[in-house]
Amino acid sequence: MAIQLDIVETPDKVAQKAASLVADFIQAKPNAVLGLATGSTPVPTYRRLVQMHHKNGLSLAHITTFNLDEYVGLPESHGQSYRFFMDQNLFQHIDIPPEQTHVPNGLAPDPDQECKAFESKIQSAGGVDLWLLGIGHNGHIAFNEPGSSSDSRTRLINIAPETITANSRFFDHLSQVPRQALTVGIATILEARKILLLATGKDKALAVSKAVNGPISANWPASALQHHPDCTFILDQEAASLMTFTNST
Ligand code: F6R
Repeated sequence: MAIQLDIVETPDKVAQKAASLVADFIQAKPNAVLGLATGSTPVPTYRRLVQMHHKNGLSLAHITTFNLDEYVGLPESHGQSYRFFMDQNLFQHIDIPPEQTHVPNGLAPDPDQECKAFESKIQSAGGVDLWLLGIGHNGHIAFNEPGSSSDSRTRLINIAPETITANSRFFDHLSQVPRQALTVGIATILEARKILLLATGKDKALAVSKAVNGPISANWPASALQHHPDCTFILDQEAASLMTFTNST
């Protein structure tokens, strides 16, 4: 199954496209279940959704959200927890009731139980309609680091050294970056009815090309998205710069 590609000029156009697709999706299905990502890439998309809420009357009051992942050991109030990120960048600025937002609890005393409960909540909500993803330099999606199998479910994972280094830009020191996370699995992501992956910048070009053109391999976890029947990558030109094109892509 080929991943569909939507290549635009700039990161700003990626955000514009992604936000309008998400807004159209919510308008068509006001009680949509959305899967969400943190990281730098979706921030401008969230900013646009907030603007659409304030200026164009887009209501997100009836959606339910599930986030991909959370650091183990950080309380929700920590400035780098993914719950904090989502509250700051999206939830606080829209009309979604907090109880309709779900981020794994990185302080859960029993992480395995927390992961099972997270999967159950997704099932009880009827499954994810649309999952918004980013991609790591090593091809990870959520915290499914290289080696993660395509039948993986929500679980505790050791964060790869290269991801710890990449994410240290948000912390004062490398040593402060948590070493573990709770992450949804690749199988969990593949069950979403629609997937939109956003990538911008030259530093994502290799991971994007391996995901789109490479063989499906646990070495490049995002390549598992080739299994999905409705997956689109929205890319800027730099992120698309190492792909090879065939008639089918
Ligand atoms: C975030 C997540 C990660 C990021 C990826 C890219 O919830 O699960 O997979 O999408 O690390 O991060 P940025 O966008 O910061 O380059």
